Amino acid sequence: MIYGIGTDICDVRRIRASVERHGERFAQRILAPGELATWHARKARWPERGLRYLATRFSAKEAFSKAIGLGMVMPMTWRACEVVKRESGQPAIVLHGALKDWFEARGLRCHISVTDESDYAASFCVVEKD
Ligand SMILES: CC(C)(COP(=O)(O)OP(=O)(O)OC[C@H]1O[C@@H](n2cnc3c(N)ncnc32)[C@H](O)[C@@H]1OP(=O)(O)O)[C@@H](O)C(=O)NCCC(=O)NCCS
Repeated sequence: MIYGIGTDICDVRRIRASVERHGERFAQRILAPGELATWHARKARWPERGLRYLATRFSAKEAFSKAIGLGMVMPMTWRACEVVKRESGQPAIVLHGALKDWFEARGLRCHISVTDESDYAASFCVVEKD
């Protein structure tokens, strides 16, 4: 059965402003270690793609936080919720630490979809309970 759904829209211009203001610290606060490596690689090749990557991760994590009904409240933290890519290109959520324990204790499963276009990134998340 469906446990929760979550959606989020993120203005890429706001992400750009945060990166300009706080530099690397902003990305470090939002991204898990694996995501941080992708951000560095994308940003080095094409800065705009780096920002889009950061914006889609930001929106996916917010959508997930809503789907589990917590918002950005412990054990939900930005870095404990990692967005990975399957071989097919489909994104998936991988959890870490206390958030992983919290999620698994409830028998939850997650589906995430992300998109971006010009100035916006958006995500939709469905969480199921077995
Ligand atoms: C959920 C959250 C991450 C979204 O923040 P945001 O990016 O500023 O705002 P968005 O426009 O993306 O989303 C806001 C909507 O999220 C929804 N939302 C808020 N808390 C939620 C929760 N715990 N679970 C699911 N959805 C939630 C609400 O519908 C809200 O819209 P509304 O205020 O018009 O009802 C953030 O509100 C949060 O962390 N909330 C929990 C902590 C909190 O609210 N603390 C204060 C308690 S008084």
